[in-house]
Amino acid sequence: MRRERGIIVAIDGPSGAGKSTLAKELAKRIGYRQLDTGAMYRAMAWLARETGLDLNDDAAVAAFCVGANIELQPQNGSSRVFANGREVTAEIRTPEISMLTSRMSALRPVREAMTQLQRRMGADGGVVLEGRDIGTVVFPDAELKFFLTASAEERGRRRFLELQAKGNSISLEATIEEVKQRDAQDAGRALAPLRQAEDALPLDSTGMSIDEVVSFMERAVQTAIAEKGV
Ligand code: DC
Repeated sequence: MRRERGIIVAIDGPSGAGKSTLAKELAKRIGYRQLDTGAMYRAMAWLARETGLDLNDDAAVAAFCVGANIELQPQNGSSRVFANGREVTAEIRTPEISMLTSRMSALRPVREAMTQLQRRMGADGGVVLEGRDIGTVVFPDAELKFFLTASAEERGRRRFLELQAKGNSISLEATIEEVKQRDAQDAGRALAPLRQAEDALPLDSTGMSIDEVVSFMERAVQTAIAEKGV
């Protein structure tokens, strides 16, 4: 498929595998936009909590999805996140919102709304999308797909350091537990579960530096661009 601005790069994988950091750095190096689809689901969860949405009420969830307006605004190689016009960039990064997002993202109307929006945002190409189902559901025809993993302990440790730096007092053990619980929820759900697309390149980043992983990805991008001629 011919795209206007370049290829589509999909990065999927479990929580804390380093997708955001790597997608950001890769996008910067190759001059592509970065789309953090997890941030979009998080903004939906934030809004649901704000409006007191009952996740068990199907009609209310469907109406909520129609009325929800989620936006990503690029800024300095990162993205500001807005939910119905209100900036929620920092507020969506708490353990509580992480768990609520994982529950909320299993609901059909939520997935349909976000998938549609992500397709619109990425269709022209020249974009790195990161999430759980980019290579399997959102853009199964993406020209390049990575499936990023790292051990649960390493992923929990990374999340712990991130949260600690933000002044959150959660323990390392609790963070590893949260990561494992979210993995089980994200991989076990019926709709668009976390799984590796058959044509994705698996990448285990345990013990690898950011630069090593990004350099590997960058070479794969150059090869894909040369092969697909975009
Ligand atoms: O990548 P993240 O940790 O910010 O994602 C938060 C949650 O959103 C994650 O637990 C599962 C969900 N998610 C999803 O279901 N599909 C995506 N494409 C991205 C995230």
